[in-house]
Amino acid sequence: MSSFRQHSFKLVPGEQATELLNAQAHIWNHIFNFINSMSLKCAIQLGIPDIIHNHAKPMTLSELLVALPIHPTKARNIPRLMRILIHSGFFVAEEMIGNDEEERYALTDASRLLLKENPLSVTPFLLAMLDPVLTTPWQFLTAWFQNEDLTPFDTAHGQMFWDYGCHDPKLNNFFNDAMASDARLVISVVIDKCSAVFGGLESLVDVGGGTGTMAKAIADAFPSMECTVLDLPHVVAGSEGSKNLKYIGGDMFEAVPPADAILLKWILHDWNDEECVKILRRCKEAITSNDKKGKVIIIEMIVQNQKEDDKESNETQLFFDMLMMVLVTGKERNEKEWAKLFFDAGFSDYKITHILGLRSLIQVYP
Ligand SMILES: C[S@@+](CC[C@H](N)C(=O)[O-])C[C@H]1O[C@@H](n2cnc3c(N)ncnc32)[C@H](O)[C@@H]1O
Repeated sequence: MSSFRQHSFKLVPGEQATELLNAQAHIWNHIFNFINSMSLKCAIQLGIPDIIHNHAKPMTLSELLVALPIHPTKARNIPRLMRILIHSGFFVAEEMIGNDEEERYALTDASRLLLKENPLSVTPFLLAMLDPVLTTPWQFLTAWFQNEDLTPFDTAHGQMFWDYGCHDPKLNNFFNDAMASDARLVISVVIDKCSAVFGGLESLVDVGGGTGTMAKAIADAFPSMECTVLDLPHVVAGSEGSKNLKYIGGDMFEAVPPADAILLKWILHDWNDEECVKILRRCKEAITSNDKKGKVIIIEMIVQNQKEDDKESNETQLFFDMLMMVLVTGKERNEKEWAKLFFDAGFSDYKITHILGLRSLIQVYP
């Protein structure tokens, strides 16, 4: 039986009706927010950006239909998929003024960043984040608020995120690919805009460095620096080092190898405050061994870092914060929360550089 009470019919006065209908429209927009993500995922799986890109010029609907891997009975639905993706900024429709030609679809900066052949493609990240293994836990958010499990991911799948990756090669692979795709974009910006961060360093350990994309790029850019990737054994299994790059399978809560610098990219937001302080203490031991005074380089979001009126950026940071709550035990932090973690772990100073859009580079000193 429905838990909603039956209400008697009530007339709404004119001026209240507008407010009510606006409220209804606002609710509808939020109910259907997921349609933006799912439409985008479908366009990527069908390869629409790649097809338009390979055509080398804006493409008419008829040309797109010839190239698309779809059943002929679905052809008439493609303009509808394209229309919502034009609305959300992934394609533009170029109108052919003055003649009867069809409109032509062209790419935008966002869809160019989703091309498979783009070395900085965000597609592996998109496909991982929208995989059912990662979206199912959202159906368990309410149950999680009412039980003792550590994460909604745990409620949904019966184990914690990192354990699941250890036992399921599919998740391990697509998650590592997603992280590697992000690392390619981030390291290209960091080396271009702030390579001085690595100046004078003889050694660096990328803690939780995944399959080593960041460390490989740093090792190549600074051939005299000894670089190490520390990650869980199943993540680094099979990765091959080079002259100045090596891989270690281990647990960052247990030990971090000594180095002049420790890199922590997208690590601390995966963990709660107590866990972060433990990781940071291990990092401090690593950079102060042998009487040295190194530094920790952190790449993370700083919440409320964006201009107040940048609604989309603020919302994206809030999305990431919720994501960290649902998948793992972490959260996104504002500057005050970051500073507290650093001081609680025994560091004395930090410097923030805003060079990475929604994320920042933070250097932390003992
Ligand atoms: C969000 S990913 C970030 C990967 C990489 N730093 C990047 O940004 O591309 C977090 C990484 O931490 C690793 N990790 C999780 N628990 C760990 C542990 N106890 N010790 C070492 N690494 C761990 C995961 O395997 C994963 O590669």
